[in-house]
Amino acid sequence: MDIQTYQQLSALVADQIIAKIKQKPDCCLGLPTGHTPIGTYKSLVEQSANGQVDWSRVRCFALDDYLEVDASFSFQSFLQNNLYDKVNASRQNLFNPTMVDNYDGLIAANGGLDLTILGIGANGHIAFNEPGTCLQSWTHCSFLTSSTKLANQDAFGSQEVPDRGITMGIKTIMESRSITLIASGEKKRGIVESAFRGPITNEVPASLLQEHKTLSVITDFGFMLSTAN
Ligand code: PGA
Repeated sequence: MDIQTYQQLSALVADQIIAKIKQKPDCCLGLPTGHTPIGTYKSLVEQSANGQVDWSRVRCFALDDYLEVDASFSFQSFLQNNLYDKVNASRQNLFNPTMVDNYDGLIAANGGLDLTILGIGANGHIAFNEPGTCLQSWTHCSFLTSSTKLANQDAFGSQEVPDRGITMGIKTIMESRSITLIASGEKKRGIVESAFRGPITNEVPASLLQEHKTLSVITDFGFMLSTAN
């Protein structure tokens, strides 16, 4: 499929998520925050109106969140405002790594992630796995780089972006049965090309995904990749 606009990208990713929910009503989703997925969530909400998609058994796992942040700035609030409160998701199925000591154990106890959606940072990070994070990492605390803090500053106005987050590790993400990474806008072209056409290195954490067997990369600037089948 030829994707040329942010709207098309968002609709395609929303369709992938809905297809997964229809195929497996109690599936486990790994869900991102940031600017890029906002359109996907909007499309999901629209397509879920009037009970068209049943979220009541879907288990949602936020990829990451800030530590020591006012609740209103947390990624959990972002997901609540953009998705959870607008579909018929069940409160007890909405998980976040700040809520439990053993997030990986919780994910495993729920059967493992079926589909994980990722953005990509300007420095190649996935979730809060900043450059240098090792392939074997499970959920862990991470220090945010200045580039990540700058990219997220707009949500904080004049307040400082927290220094630390907690994030699914690379290993947590790689264990997901399928992964879709989304990127929008020319400013992401360079990092997407180095992540998926360049060498596999933990200096560009997204490049580690090249080893995943069921990976899609969907962009609105002409770069597409699918390793499925
Ligand atoms: P963005 O963030 O969607 O706001 O560009 C992506 C990310 O940092 O993962």
